[in-house]
Amino acid sequence: MALDGPPPLVDAKPVAVLLEDLRDERAATVPFPPGETRVSLSRTRRFAGEPLPMLLDAYERFGPVFTLRLLHGNVVFMLGPAANHYMTVSHASNFIWRDGHFRDLIGLMGDGLLTIDGEFHRRSRMIMLPAFHHRHIAASVEVIVAETDRALQQLSPGGRIDLYAWTRRLALRVAMRALFGLDPDGERARSIDAAGLFERALSFYSSEYLLRVLRGPFSPWARMQKAARELDQLIYSEIADRRATGARGEDILSLLLDACDEDGSTLSDLQIRDEVMTLMFAGHDTTTSTIAFMFYELARNAEIVARLLAEQDAMLADGRPTAAQLTAGELTELELVLDETLRKYPPAWIGPRRSLEAFEFEGHAVPGRAFVNYCSWASHHLPDVFAEPEDFRPERFTPEARAALPKGAYVPFGGGSRTCIGMRFGQLEVRTIATLILSRFAFSLPADFQLAIRQMPTISPKHGLPMLIHERTTAAATEPSLAA
Ligand code: HEM
Repeated sequence: MALDGPPPLVDAKPVAVLLEDLRDERAATVPFPPGETRVSLSRTRRFAGEPLPMLLDAYERFGPVFTLRLLHGNVVFMLGPAANHYMTVSHASNFIWRDGHFRDLIGLMGDGLLTIDGEFHRRSRMIMLPAFHHRHIAASVEVIVAETDRALQQLSPGGRIDLYAWTRRLALRVAMRALFGLDPDGERARSIDAAGLFERALSFYSSEYLLRVLRGPFSPWARMQKAARELDQLIYSEIADRRATGARGEDILSLLLDACDEDGSTLSDLQIRDEVMTLMFAGHDTTTSTIAFMFYELARNAEIVARLLAEQDAMLADGRPTAAQLTAGELTELELVLDETLRKYPPAWIGPRRSLEAFEFEGHAVPGRAFVNYCSWASHHLPDVFAEPEDFRPERFTPEARAALPKGAYVPFGGGSRTCIGMRFGQLEVRTIATLILSRFAFSLPADFQLAIRQMPTISPKHGLPMLIHERTTAAATEPSLAA
């Protein structure tokens, strides 16, 4: 028996949704927290372009809970350790995802784990959890290593590469194979250019905000829907084939086909389609950005690279990591760098929610049916929690320093019952790709490169990450001059 999902939102008309938002706002029974609540298109534009400085400024002026009017409506932000804990753990049941700011994602992903709530979320998560057990995740090492080795063949010292685009292609191939069990070079995937379609569908979310409300035949929405329907054909035919033949592999789709909870509930074909699309989306942008930001910082911090290389020289036999080293995160210097990368640049930077009932936080009332977001990116930049937050300091995450952090301070993977289900997979993928790159090459940034960050839906380098490729040196020979 399949679980019952929520009614579809996909066809909701943007104008009707907007009017309903305004009605909800007018019906508020308590005032919104202090903030900037006058209508202002320029504030909306500034927020779309560079939200971090605005959020930090508002935190300074109004405290950990404040309101910004963005586009048509009031949006509440809650920042800092206590706010993160409140929204993700202690009072999580008063916040839903589905009606929050990223509800447009339902147009592509349908009702996968990320966008569902309540009992349906709880039971779907129970069904899916075993597929993310660490035994299954470990089975993906081989795929990630093989794909990374393949991609590294495109690099050679003296060359130049957009490391962001390179990693994005690699992560998409890994996702197709490890999550979906689909050979990206096989006939079925190539016949419809699955990778290209997926990128086309995702590009909707980085299109101009105002264009995203259009629904006409040539609108970004229509293009996204067309790409999604073509991908659906691929996913459904794969599901049908596997159900008919009983063929299964180590991939997550195979596990989802047979997964059930303690009541014997299973996932329908539609639910599996939605979960696969959700995992592809949630799993490839996030890891890509993490690798890109990590190597951006490494190119500016030669002494940290020297520590990573010394660790590799001491621990890798013949320069190759073992599967156990990768799954257990045994390269501890690399783990610190990974944790600090996710502090400074948490790719899934915002937790978009809608409150169910009015509530009070730190002396301020917040209405029910309000847009309320927690934000790891801003929370990780509060100087009273992370001193000199712009500095890249992996030592913030030594076991002692981490133990001293307040509850809720560090939330790159969210928290509570919605903690990232792909966390282990994502960490494994990032550490595998980073280890193999560092064992072969060194990078420096072109002298004129300036990092700009774009958001929507995850944060990433706005203009890619151009890198000059060098021979890997030994740790002792790492030249500070390689730093930008
Ligand atoms: C470095 C890599 C990753 C980061 C930083 C990351 C971050 C996050 C965060 C912050 C959330 C919670 C969002 C919220 O509270 O609204 C989340 C949820 C989720 N992530 Fe990840 N993620 C990563 C990789 C992955 C991968 C590889 C997958 C899939 C294989 C994945 C699948 C999901 C799913 C399905 C959810 C929804 C979980 C739920 O609501 O029950 N993520 N992720």
